[in-house]
Amino acid sequence: MTPSNENELTQAVLERLSSAKDPRFAQIMQSLITHLHAFIREVDLQPDEWMNSIEFLTAVGQTCTDKRQEFILLSDTLGASMMVVMLDQARAKSRAALGANAATEATEATVQGPYYWAGAPDLPLGANIAEGVLGEPTFYSGRITDTAGQPLQGALLDIWSGDGEGNYDMQLEGSEMAARARIRTDAQGRYWYWSIRPTAYPVPVDGPVGRMLEGMGRHPNRPGHIHMMVSAPGYVPVTTHLFVANSPYIDSDAVFGVRPSLIVEYESHPAGTAADGRMLDVPYWSAHYDFCLETQAT
Ligand code: BEZ
Ligand code: FE
Repeated sequence: MTPSNENELTQAVLERLSSAKDPRFAQIMQSLITHLHAFIREVDLQPDEWMNSIEFLTAVGQTCTDKRQEFILLSDTLGASMMVVMLDQARAKSRAALGANAATEATEATVQGPYYWAGAPDLPLGANIAEGVLGEPTFYSGRITDTAGQPLQGALLDIWSGDGEGNYDMQLEGSEMAARARIRTDAQGRYWYWSIRPTAYPVPVDGPVGRMLEGMGRHPNRPGHIHMMVSAPGYVPVTTHLFVANSPYIDSDAVFGVRPSLIVEYESHPAGTAADGRMLDVPYWSAHYDFCLETQAT
């Protein structure tokens, strides 16, 4: 079919999908083409606006390096990443509802963001994962259980955090790994480690996504949070954060990642001996959180 007007054009493009080999890919492309054409028509996109869009996406790609992922940032700031996370979690919840009598709901997921760096050091329970990192010391503790409340021994917390000024190691000169670690639970499913109390920080704004946010009149800030991937063999892994209660921007996260179940009260303590016996000569904080993993369907 040779389309002779814009109404026939969408149909003509969709018809070319008829030989697609993978049905799921065909379904995704069919919907993408349909929505894209509808969007262009709805806003009556002008040729210069279309060219601006092409230049914008080109700049997003050109801004990416091995340490900077502008496409993730674009997806995150448009709420696309969180939409994928929420749909995935909704599927998991309906699976769990069909399954056994869970005592506890699995920990909610949130965006991964662009600063995950595989290969963090394996550190023992009680380690300070942020040795030499700027920020207020914080004692993190809790348990990892299954949804029946049974402790998971040897469950893995793969943790990453910005420093007390909101900078990740990847963003700093030299880019040595810092404030990252892999920690495993003990026989009672317990974990504890030291890090810093994370502060609110802006996502990178010196690239095309920053210009887009400015154009939309949006601030670029995220509330204070610490990232972790929690996993154990036979359980569904979860990529999540703990958010600092009352942190600035807790109600307006630039990437829409806050979930009430992930907000934690950080308790302040004067200098002295902490719960794990560590002697602190400065005031410190503590944050307690229990993670819960759902059994992997067989
Ligand atoms: C982060 O929390 O590390 C992050 C998430 C999304 C975009 C930028 C940063
Ligand atoms: Fe972060």
